[in-house]
Amino acid sequence: MTHEKRPVIIYGGSFDPPHRGHAALARAALRQLKPSALYLVPGFRTPFKDYRPAPFAARAALLRAALGGAGLGGRAEIKISSFEANLRRVVFTWETVAHFKKLHPGAPLYVLMGSDCLAGFGGWRRPEAILKSASLLVGLRPGHSIKKGGIPFTALAGSFPEADSTAVRAELFLGRRPAQLHPAVLEVMGEKALYLSRERRLLEGSLSPRRYAHSLHTAELALSLAPAAGVPQRQAALAALLHDCARDLSPAAQRRLCPPRSPHLAETLREAPVLAHAWAGAALARKKYGVEDPEVLEAITLHATGAPGMGPLARLVYVSDLANQGRTFHEARLVRELAAVDFEAAFRAANYVKLVYAFAGGGWVHPLSVGLWNSLQEKKKN
Ligand SMILES: [Fe+2]
Ligand SMILES: [Fe+2]
Repeated sequence: MTHEKRPVIIYGGSFDPPHRGHAALARAALRQLKPSALYLVPGFRTPFKDYRPAPFAARAALLRAALGGAGLGGRAEIKISSFEANLRRVVFTWETVAHFKKLHPGAPLYVLMGSDCLAGFGGWRRPEAILKSASLLVGLRPGHSIKKGGIPFTALAGSFPEADSTAVRAELFLGRRPAQLHPAVLEVMGEKALYLSRERRLLEGSLSPRRYAHSLHTAELALSLAPAAGVPQRQAALAALLHDCARDLSPAAQRRLCPPRSPHLAETLREAPVLAHAWAGAALARKKYGVEDPEVLEAITLHATGAPGMGPLARLVYVSDLANQGRTFHEARLVRELAAVDFEAAFRAANYVKLVYAFAGGGWVHPLSVGLWNSLQEKKKN
């Protein structure tokens, strides 16, 4: 059987989302090795990233769209494998290699990757076990060297630019159309309401254009500060997008949405009713957008006043709401610049700026905002 001697290629990754770079690497591998099978293996979670990717079924649909868009649709050798996703945990490449070795005894196995991954290969789990059963098949990324000498590998002909998946996802969360994605992939995303497209659609329908633009600006800054604030990307985008979701409802409708046991509710409604949109927003996020994540709900609840002890996501939205690109006042720019170098300092500065404005107005100042200020001073002393 000549069949068994044909190579089998394993291509793992998060594919969140699958982009033109993935398709180009797969195409080159097919052309060069003429394998009997090329398995695309979306991971349940990768060992290197702290985020949860989109569900497997969604990524499989996106992968099919990406392959179709790249002219690889209907190629019988290409298979999307649920092996890693079904295990519902971080799966290491040596385990995936062992799985496909059992499935294709006697066939030469290859693990496909970009040269950026090759650089870190020595740090993978059980690299020797991988190399015992498989060869590495490596596509050159511009800016990465692909020198022979260390780890043995087979080089793919050509050069394969890598898209920055984190940046691509950030664009998707903001409703943009990253050029690294084939239009067919974007279409499936819309159909399947992925990357918060359903939330954005609902939000756009219920806010004024100005307020919707403000929500996108807030999400844009939140996404760029998320790593510094220690917050997962999707959570940052969701909370920032929805923070003002109740802002354009009538005061009466906002009041009806406020949970009766919200702290300081009666005096807030009496002294500064505009702040009620934050409590109402959390309730609406739950009711209309199906948000159950308590950290997202906390971030929406506290975005206007702040509060002592607020969590990382709430801090992120608090800063991003005040300091985003759409804010034209001088202090917003200062806080934004500070956030780029020291997120915690920017958080304290945001509280300061908000209080100064409140005191300058000469009226009642929300006890939670003052409480936040006091809690930050106590922290400094300790
Ligand atoms: Fe607000
Ligand atoms: Fe806002």
